[in-house]
Amino acid sequence: MNDFSFPTDDPQVRIVHSFQEMIEARFENGINALCWPRMLDGNFAEVANRLGETGEGVTPLDDDFLESLSLTAAGKRAVEMMLLDLRLLREHDREPVLNLITGYPRDEEPGPVSTDVFSFHADSAPVEADTWLCTYHGATSERVPNSQVQRRVDSPQTRAELLKLYGGEDDEGFTEFLSDHCYDLHYAPLADARPQAFGLGHLWRIAVAWPESSVPPCIHRAPDTAPGDPPRLLLIS
Ligand SMILES: [Fe+2]
Repeated sequence: MNDFSFPTDDPQVRIVHSFQEMIEARFENGINALCWPRMLDGNFAEVANRLGETGEGVTPLDDDFLESLSLTAAGKRAVEMMLLDLRLLREHDREPVLNLITGYPRDEEPGPVSTDVFSFHADSAPVEADTWLCTYHGATSERVPNSQVQRRVDSPQTRAELLKLYGGEDDEGFTEFLSDHCYDLHYAPLADARPQAFGLGHLWRIAVAWPESSVPPCIHRAPDTAPGDPPRLLLIS
């Protein structure tokens, strides 16, 4: 496993060089994404392809099942890498899940604001929290700087449509309605937006929206995949 410097000049991203540094780092001064760039050893494609035959949608993979797979030495090294990340996170009281993803449910009738994971959004929590993620194989999620997006509920046209759906005034009740349906967590990229892929193998820790957060939440989305695309291996915590 080698460290290398991840090419980004985005002032909202801080590069770290170890798991420990990532755990200890704080979201401050506008930084809402921490990245530990890594080139992981092992054949992740072999693992994903082996599993891709069995799963559909989002399938959580458990440690024993991964260890029981019959794989080449390179496939086994990939499994070891993923298990190591899971272990490190568990040791720090996280509850990571390793998922095999062949597709996500789509918002079939999105109305004025689509609220599925393909739409740029912020994760949210009632108390201090963060999201950890690493894509080991397949298309990777992407983030976009906060200055390059607009909350969908702040677009006058969208807001008017939502207000119609709500059937009332633009008051506290409406704000609650937006929050209850997660409409207020979704963002539209501006014309000059330059989303950045999280990339393969890199571990990310991103800020979520919570009441006393001192930084804006990291805006991100799942990649748009089509049937037949390689399955994804994604750690999320
Ligand atoms: Fe998310």
